[in-house]
Amino acid sequence: MANRGGFSSRLGFIMAAAGSAVGLGNIWGFPYEVGQGGGAAFVVMYLIFCFVLCYPVMVTEIAIGRKTQKNPVGAFNALGYKKWNFVGKMGIFSGFLILSFYNVIAGWAFGYVYEMAIGNFDIATHFSEFTQDVFKVGAYGMVFMATTAYVVSKGISGGIEKAAKFLMPSLLIMILLIVGYALTLPNAMDGLRFYLVPDFSEINTQVVINALGQAFFSLSLGMGALITYGSYVNKKENIVSAAAFITLADVGIAVLAGMMIFPLIGFMSGGAMDNVGSGPGLIFETLPEIFGTIGGTFGAVAGTLFFVLLCFAALTSTVSLLEVPVAYVVDEKNVRRSRAVWLVAGAIFLIGIPSLLGNGYSEFFSKFITYPGSETATDFLSFIANVANDTLLPLGGCLIVFFAAHVWKKHNLDEELSHGAPNYKGSFLQKYLNFAVGYLAPAVLGFIFVITVLKTYFGISIF
Ligand code: TRP
Repeated sequence: MANRGGFSSRLGFIMAAAGSAVGLGNIWGFPYEVGQGGGAAFVVMYLIFCFVLCYPVMVTEIAIGRKTQKNPVGAFNALGYKKWNFVGKMGIFSGFLILSFYNVIAGWAFGYVYEMAIGNFDIATHFSEFTQDVFKVGAYGMVFMATTAYVVSKGISGGIEKAAKFLMPSLLIMILLIVGYALTLPNAMDGLRFYLVPDFSEINTQVVINALGQAFFSLSLGMGALITYGSYVNKKENIVSAAAFITLADVGIAVLAGMMIFPLIGFMSGGAMDNVGSGPGLIFETLPEIFGTIGGTFGAVAGTLFFVLLCFAALTSTVSLLEVPVAYVVDEKNVRRSRAVWLVAGAIFLIGIPSLLGNGYSEFFSKFITYPGSETATDFLSFIANVANDTLLPLGGCLIVFFAAHVWKKHNLDEELSHGAPNYKGSFLQKYLNFAVGYLAPAVLGFIFVITVLKTYFGISIF
């Protein structure tokens, strides 16, 4: 087999994995989920899921990847459990679905670069017209997918690493500056209160489902993306500490994105926080406002820069989403990398077309499905996001940890984790991970998966 390539440095892996995690999920998805369900109570659930359940899943994925040096399907085969490779196949399928809608949102963000550059801050109030102009936003999406394909075709160290290393820190600085500015605006504190002071009576089954789905999506877990990235990692890497850094970085950026959006909503609404649930359009309808209040050339420059960086954050995520099926086709089907990349990217773009049309342009895809027990219809993009993020990813995560602890066996996992982490064996963290990977995560994730399926697709609530 040809040399698969690898990360050229320790920092390269961490930055690429953090780049995969940090993306539209943090800046677009997180604030909108907080707005729709529960405010600060959602934030608390999300944080618990990230640290208690998702972190162990992340460690496990990276360890399986490094041990086998394979894509998610090949990894199960390489460990000698071919029967389990359906988990990898399911992951690749989830990746297809996620990238298909993700690319649509990335296309919007890309379009906003131009809108900000020409100082069109009014776009905030014309967002639905913008998304209905499907030929324009479709073209933006196509350029975005082609860029992703180009980066992936250049291979792991050439493309992904270089971009991630310098763009992630730039995005962080930009967000911090905007947070600082947003907090000085009138009524910012009302927004902040909604975001940070929990009202636990807001927690219900739907909030739990959404918070778990958001945690998996944001951390890029449950579909083998980190098995694939782990497969390029060297034995000297300390997986447990790298995963801790990636989790903290991802959660940190999401929390900061909220600090940017909610004060701004407080400002725009004069302190009324009853209109935050506007859905997937949330950041596109609020952020231009902040650049508008800065105003003039400076506002346009800041807005342009922000959306450029957001596009790069999205790009390091789309790259990881495309990398998974590509690694699969290259390793298992012996297709040349450059050809595999363009074929897969083209197919995913086509699968994304209904998500593109379902934002007002096509009545059919905009009101695609009405879930049992719900009065309102769900658009195609949100439907795919429900299937992939809230259902398939937690199921994938559940199966991966169950497999690692009970089929592949814990001592093998521990052995892999102790490469590069001399103090791991015997530590408290080892005990916790053994418990979490072996019992806590499979049980809780399995349970929430069942609840999700019953509630979402059958309209049956057991709580
Ligand atoms: N985590 C990314 C985000 O928050 C999206 C993403 C990239 C992803 N790769 C993934 C989600 C793999 C699930 C699985 O924007």
